Amino acid sequence: MKLRIEKERLAQELDQLGAISSEPPPVVTRIVFTEADLRARLFVKELCSEAGLNIREDAVGNTFARWIGSEPQLAAVGTGSHIDAIPNAGRFDGTVGVLGGLEAIRALQRSGFHPRRSIELLIFTSEEPTRFGLGCLGSRLLAGTMRTPLTDSDGLSLDQVRHNAGFTGELASVPLARDYYSAFIELHIEQGPLLEREAIDVGIVTAIAAPATLRIEIEGEGGHAGAVLMPGRRDAFLAAAEIALAVEAAANASGAIDTVATTGVCDIFPRAVNSIPSRARMEIDVRDIDGARRDATLKLIKDAAREAAARRGVTVKQELLNADLPGACAPAVIAALEQACIAHGATHRLMISRAYHDSLFMSQIVPTAMLFIPCRGGVSHRPDEYSSPEAIARGALILAEALSQLSS
Ligand code: GLV
Ligand code: MN
Ligand code: MN
Repeated sequence: MKLRIEKERLAQELDQLGAISSEPPPVVTRIVFTEADLRARLFVKELCSEAGLNIREDAVGNTFARWIGSEPQLAAVGTGSHIDAIPNAGRFDGTVGVLGGLEAIRALQRSGFHPRRSIELLIFTSEEPTRFGLGCLGSRLLAGTMRTPLTDSDGLSLDQVRHNAGFTGELASVPLARDYYSAFIELHIEQGPLLEREAIDVGIVTAIAAPATLRIEIEGEGGHAGAVLMPGRRDAFLAAAEIALAVEAAANASGAIDTVATTGVCDIFPRAVNSIPSRARMEIDVRDIDGARRDATLKLIKDAAREAAARRGVTVKQELLNADLPGACAPAVIAALEQACIAHGATHRLMISRAYHDSLFMSQIVPTAMLFIPCRGGVSHRPDEYSSPEAIARGALILAEALSQLSS
């Protein structure tokens, strides 16, 4: 079997997908179920149809494109990632695993390989938490671990939004049977600097750090920025500012380099220069490879928020949107990826994923592993995110090889 990745074609398709954005290039913004997300879905589905794959979509818009194997009753081998993108993102996060996964399937088709197990490309809905405050919506539902209902910042429910996008089935029908896939692999850019720094071709992920998101809503008292004197003010933003500093301090206090905490959202109301902020809404991301240590950091943050609120005479409402367990990758899938690297002379190392991925949830129901490729400077979640066509093609090649082993 001679596997050949069409590097230029894949790079071109990534460019085309990157141009589907609600903001002008090079910015990619593709929030779930917006017009840009729906257009991107169409683009990918058309490519999957051209490759002769059978497409189905579930009630939350997870999209499955299947190359039917010679024994279609067997559990399939899955691969895939996401095409939604946070505001001001780049072209490669998620998309490399989707279009690279498709190119891996096409390379296998071109080589004359016939899988025994079906091979399925899976495009997850809303890996990014931008719209609903909770990441990995599609894969959480597939794994049967999502709490509902969810609403977006305009107060629209997930049901309203997905129905408008044309996905009208019952969410209860989304979870996958445990024997739906025999293995799952997600190809992704590293989003960190190690592979590039160490000049290693690919990373094979053994574990995924445990993410948590805390939402804090602060209610103080607004008023005229000139007329209300400083003593006795109950400025919601100043409480938020103290909490943001406490977030940093809590992560630093863990003593472990693996503990990270970020205040990524801080909206203030009414957001007028001559008005004291009466309300603030923060979203705080806390992660660690050690779930218990992550929870201890969360507790420090929550306690600090309560203390700052009491001192400043504002009220806080704290809501833990998610606190997921770390994910462990499956030795058999890791071994298949290692074999594939050896077969193609790719240098590789084992590593941890500090970013979360749909694989965190897939790993709860399917033997799963991830394949990382280097990205320039380790940069991600920015418009200047970049992975070379060579690195992407190498990732797709290793993926194709592993898919062939796992589906034979
Ligand atoms: C995924 O995009 C993450 O924030 O780790
Ligand atoms: Mn991302
Ligand atoms: Mn991603």
